[in-house]
Amino acid sequence: MDTILILDFGGQTSQLISRRIRELGYYTEIIPGETEIPSKLKSNLKGIILSGSPYSVYQEDAPKLSFDLASIGIPVLGICYGMQRIVKDFGGTVKAGGKKEYGRSKVFFTGREKDRGLLHNIPDGFISWMSHGDIIENIPRNFDVLALSENHHVAAISHREKRIIGIQFHPEVTHCQYGTEILDNFAGIVCGARKNWNVELFIENTCRELRKRVGEMKVLLLISGGVDSSVLATLLLHCLNPKNVYLLYIDTGLMRKDETEEVLGNLERLGAVNINVRDASDRFFEALEGVEDPEEKRRIIGDLFMKLEQEETAKLGLKNYFLAQGTLYTDMIESGKGVGNRAQVIKSHHNVRSPLVEELREKGKLIEPLSILYKDEVRKLGRKLGLHERIIERHPFPGPGLAVRILGEVTREKAGILKDADSIYIEELKKRGLYGKIWQAFAVLLPVRSVGVRGDSRGYRYVLALRAVVSKDGMTADVFQFPTKDLLEISAMITNKVPEIGRVVYDVSSKPPATIEWE
Ligand code: XMP
Repeated sequence: MDTILILDFGGQTSQLISRRIRELGYYTEIIPGETEIPSKLKSNLKGIILSGSPYSVYQEDAPKLSFDLASIGIPVLGICYGMQRIVKDFGGTVKAGGKKEYGRSKVFFTGREKDRGLLHNIPDGFISWMSHGDIIENIPRNFDVLALSENHHVAAISHREKRIIGIQFHPEVTHCQYGTEILDNFAGIVCGARKNWNVELFIENTCRELRKRVGEMKVLLLISGGVDSSVLATLLLHCLNPKNVYLLYIDTGLMRKDETEEVLGNLERLGAVNINVRDASDRFFEALEGVEDPEEKRRIIGDLFMKLEQEETAKLGLKNYFLAQGTLYTDMIESGKGVGNRAQVIKSHHNVRSPLVEELREKGKLIEPLSILYKDEVRKLGRKLGLHERIIERHPFPGPGLAVRILGEVTREKAGILKDADSIYIEELKKRGLYGKIWQAFAVLLPVRSVGVRGDSRGYRYVLALRAVVSKDGMTADVFQFPTKDLLEISAMITNKVPEIGRVVYDVSSKPPATIEWE
């Protein structure tokens, strides 16, 4: 596949650059800015993008390129730091600009942009998005200034002969007018890349690779009920002999209501013949008895899950098999496999390393077919393969499940109450057309009882908190602006239908300072 490679120097929007270009239909990969270009990429490489960075190019420890720009021979686009890197490497100079240019800024052409494809069909004076403190002092020899910002700073440069271009603004940010068109111009016109990235092609390539690597051997996949493992199961069933696809589902008793039945029913419909369900809820509730500390709960659940994972795979009697995992592209990058140590690696503190996974990884028997996909691409893939919309659209759900939504001690009784209340909440959101507008919505059972009246009697019942947030990636989140009428009606429905709950409150805190989950 024609590939546009993004060299990530740790800028906040490096991921976005890749996302936007993929949305246009071009295939992208991201690697740490300073690393060498992997040889497997070289033959299909059509263009390189140098990302932004928290560094200044004149800092001694500023990240550098692993290759010589002047002789690379394929088109290069530098964005922000990327442009300044080009300037410095070609002998120009960059200095601190005094005042930071941040936010919207008009961009005016100098007349030299005409024959350069990057700004093809982009109107003069368009509004770009800037975020920089450093400015170009002297452009290198053999470069032209293509555009200036409204503050008269250099906004775009280009080499006179080589296809090396720099822009100061961020076309990947949605506030940048014509940003998508500019990226399209770079990939399509400047690099001549073909838009050959789509779900059908992914399925075709993945099936070919899986058949070659796995053949008639057995594959084991642990399914959780979440989107990723469900889509992966569907993909394996599609590409391989379903008889060889072993699906293992460990029911912790801490899943959402009816989740187990729904997921398994769907996979059966999609051809799964080897579904192994283990109801381990007794062991989980027993292990959680008397435990109130959230981290302790997480640890207990994680440890028990891994123990069961090993017990159950042993029971299946599989020898010499592959283990499939629903790792996504963002997981690879977050765990530091994709981004070098200089970038701000956001390591998910939630993920525990499973010995089974590590063991099979070492043996070269781990397969992660979704690891080049983003979440929305995984959803597209699921749709294409016929997975039910209810599963595809499901909100994220934490590994420890309802245990971190039952504050304080977790019991089977409390889990039952929470499942009922949560399911009323979620079903109502769906009926009212609100579910799809929310990143994550769920109910939390609080460890307090509060007084209420029912008929003539006063009684102490549980308090339930409702949470609904909007977010792009879960790293930050805003409170969903709930229509009051819906909120009041849903709350009344919960207290009417779940007798153990006497009061409902709505959580109005954003992240930060709060987190999405309550524990
Ligand atoms: P927080 O609560 O940290 O959550 O704002 C951010 C995202 O991560 C999910 N989350 C978890 N996922 N294991 C997981 O697999 C966990 O222990 C865990 N805790 C939080 C949370 O649901 C949200 O999507």
